[in-house]
Amino acid sequence: MPIYRCTDELISGDAVLKIVTLATQKGGATKTTLCRHLAVAAQLDGYQTAILDTDQQGGSRDWGATRLSRGYGPPEVHHELSPNEDHLRATLGAIKAKGIEILFIDTPGSLNGPIALNASRAAHHVLVPMRPTADDIKALPPFIAHLRRERVPFSVVVSASVTNTPRPKTEALAYLEASNLPYVSTVIHQKSVIPETLISGQTVFEISGLTEAERKSVDEFRDVYEWVRTKVALAHKVVT
Ligand SMILES: Nc1ncnc2c1ncn2[C@@H]1O[C@H](COP(=O)(O)OP(=O)(O)OP(=O)(O)O)[C@@H](O)[C@H]1O
Ligand SMILES: [Mg+2]
Repeated sequence: MPIYRCTDELISGDAVLKIVTLATQKGGATKTTLCRHLAVAAQLDGYQTAILDTDQQGGSRDWGATRLSRGYGPPEVHHELSPNEDHLRATLGAIKAKGIEILFIDTPGSLNGPIALNASRAAHHVLVPMRPTADDIKALPPFIAHLRRERVPFSVVVSASVTNTPRPKTEALAYLEASNLPYVSTVIHQKSVIPETLISGQTVFEISGLTEAERKSVDEFRDVYEWVRTKVALAHKVVT
């Protein structure tokens, strides 16, 4: 049976909507945090960018509302909670009609419902965040097996890695290497400034007065954005 890709229908014509889905089976793997940072990075890169929140928790949605109320500007945040793939397709069509060029979809941390699976199937690339922990490593194979079955391009990113010891990060990267899984070479490290900036509807990209150590987070998120941008075949847009 052919694999149904709703993006294939959506990208016909001149306009292009690239879709990146943040998904994994494990809750708390930093999907929402990455989604917000990647979307702001794309916006700063000159792309018309949006987020689609498909999680009932509404973390991205709330962040977007705070952002809007404080006048911080795009990315706009849409939401679609329906498990019906046709509804998702209609929402993606409406977002594309608004001229959005790259969309980041935030998903609930579960394989128990169709939402994350539909959003993964719709994507040009799925970014699978994992914390460098034994539990995250254990949770990875079923979701990866699903992505492979659906032939959805994906890569794993190690995120929220503790900074006081390199061992968990080394072990996670060794696991990804040994399992022959595609992964982002840059690791996102744990920094208290990250949740702090998110409360105000921002990201680390938009905060002034960062310490030298905190500025490394900016570089890390930018590296992951650059990886994703290349994966969905978009050019670097901002002329510096
Ligand atoms: N690099 C980081 N450094 C410090 N804290 C982080 C980092 N990344 C994420 N966090 C924090 O970890 C918590 C979980 O992150 P997040 O909400 O992004 O995960 P999630 O995968 O979206 O979770 P859920 O499955 O519940 O949707 C949040 O409080 C977030 O602020
Ligand atoms: Mg989340």
